[in-house]
Amino acid sequence: MRTAILASGRGSNLQALIEACQSGCLPIKIVAVGSDQPGTGALKRSEEAGILTRVFPIKNYPHRQAQEEDILIWMRENRVELLLLAGYMRVLSPQFIRQVSFPVLNIHPSLLPAFPGLHAQLQAVEYGVKVSGCTVHLVDEGLDSGPIILQEAVPVLPEDTEESLAQRILEVEHRLYPEAVRLLVLGKVQRFGRRVQILQQEG
Ligand code: GRF
Repeated sequence: MRTAILASGRGSNLQALIEACQSGCLPIKIVAVGSDQPGTGALKRSEEAGILTRVFPIKNYPHRQAQEEDILIWMRENRVELLLLAGYMRVLSPQFIRQVSFPVLNIHPSLLPAFPGLHAQLQAVEYGVKVSGCTVHLVDEGLDSGPIILQEAVPVLPEDTEESLAQRILEVEHRLYPEAVRLLVLGKVQRFGRRVQILQQEG
């Protein structure tokens, strides 16, 4: 499945996806990586893996719609069949989502619907929850609100800071995201409205 990834930052989830492909665990082909930020770790990691990259700097466009139109054209040119958001820090507009005919996935560092949006780990620490985690979900027109494919819990420890919790969650993210994508491309993700059922994991 020809896959594009959008990432804005360090790119550790992107790296996990690249490595899962390289080790033969994930049957997708990452054909293009895009970013709204130049010079990011995500772009560097992609170039090192020999993947085509493209920057869509928001300041180069008169408005957000023009930037998204360029992303749509770029996906069409690369015959993309799956879009993965991996730390892409811009919310895609409802118009964009409506124009994409293939699945768009995102990973979020909390157990949604708790703590959507920015600084999910800080929100969890400040709220005082005892358990947080991460969620891989289909992207819909809302903010971190699409149907949930996989979630995994991570304990929040009394001494946790935003950074320590983020690090513990990140280790799980790197396993959960490739696994969710694998299930999807193997046709094991079935949607019933906003509920997702995972068909038998092996075989
Ligand atoms: C991750 O915590 C992810 O859940 C969130 O943004 C962060 C991206 O980190 N959406 P990285 O760029 O993949 O290292």
